[in-house]
Amino acid sequence: MTNLADLICSMPKAELHVHLEGCITPEQAIAIGKRNGVDLFESLEAALSAYSVSCLEEFLEIFVKVSEVLLHVEDFAEVASAYFDSAAAQGVRHVELMFDLQAHTRRGVPIATVLEGLAKARRHATRSGLSTLLIVNFMRERSEKEAIELLSSLVPYRSQIVALGIDSAETGHPPRKFTRLFREARAMGLKLVAHAGFEGPPTDIEEAMDLLQVDRVDHGNRVYERPELARRLGSAHAAITVCPLAEVNLGVIASLAEHPIRQMLLDGMRPSVHSDDPAWFGSITENYTSLVKERALTPSEVFELARNSFTTSFLPASSVSSHLAELDAMAESNMRSQ
Ligand code: ADE
Ligand code: ZN
Repeated sequence: MTNLADLICSMPKAELHVHLEGCITPEQAIAIGKRNGVDLFESLEAALSAYSVSCLEEFLEIFVKVSEVLLHVEDFAEVASAYFDSAAAQGVRHVELMFDLQAHTRRGVPIATVLEGLAKARRHATRSGLSTLLIVNFMRERSEKEAIELLSSLVPYRSQIVALGIDSAETGHPPRKFTRLFREARAMGLKLVAHAGFEGPPTDIEEAMDLLQVDRVDHGNRVYERPELARRLGSAHAAITVCPLAEVNLGVIASLAEHPIRQMLLDGMRPSVHSDDPAWFGSITENYTSLVKERALTPSEVFELARNSFTTSFLPASSVSSHLAELDAMAESNMRSQ
């Protein structure tokens, strides 16, 4: 396992499913909160206990609360830069960072503040050789009207954003609620993603594919409750961003040993492994190593997951090819040394 853990850390990979707000550590929540007069926790112990969650509803409550410490350009830059540094140190070569714009604009933080902070962090990441793209997510419990209005306010920032997605509360807020939003985003040339089939039913995955026409499904862990859907996603080589530790910790998968990731690979889907909310559920390498340990993934399966992270990314084809060449060379030398 130690060798495999080293291999996972040095293996080139892309992080395609990570939320900015999910990167705020308890220590950062306290320090940034203090600086901004937003005192959420009396002590680190109190913060750690508030961070301990067991379902999506509980998680979203603390996730939104902790987001409130971010007020200024520097706050957004600090959290994103710290995350980028940690990703780069784990062999991540490319990050597509999601952010919940409404978690900030609803408190009066201007769009420009959020995007300036993220732009600063992206420049910082470039200096350490990490490429980054941004995905703006809309919260499913909020209205489509509000999302469409915000999307039109994002027009001046269009070049900074690669994709649009939906996340947050799934129950009672099916993807079909956002059909118009996604149509408008597609017309703007944005790529499309959606959290679906995490807590909500597998029909949400169908709606995300058919009505929203997404390029990637985020989580999709409930796909096997509908065998015909699983067959369809397999034939389409559908891109699925899997976040095993978030899925187990939030109780939507009983244990890592029961995670369907191997079946997804066998059936022709293109799953890849990500952290979701590293400050709560662990880093990208912890996600890989836990899966390897509990699901007994082989080195060739691990390499296939890393390959998928590049082939399903929104990078230009030339960058994908150069990352794959490096990854394949490592896979070959690993095979020769076995
Ligand atoms: N926001 C951050 N992480 C999320 C998740 N796993 N599901 C829905 N919304 C989220
Ligand atoms: Zn997520």
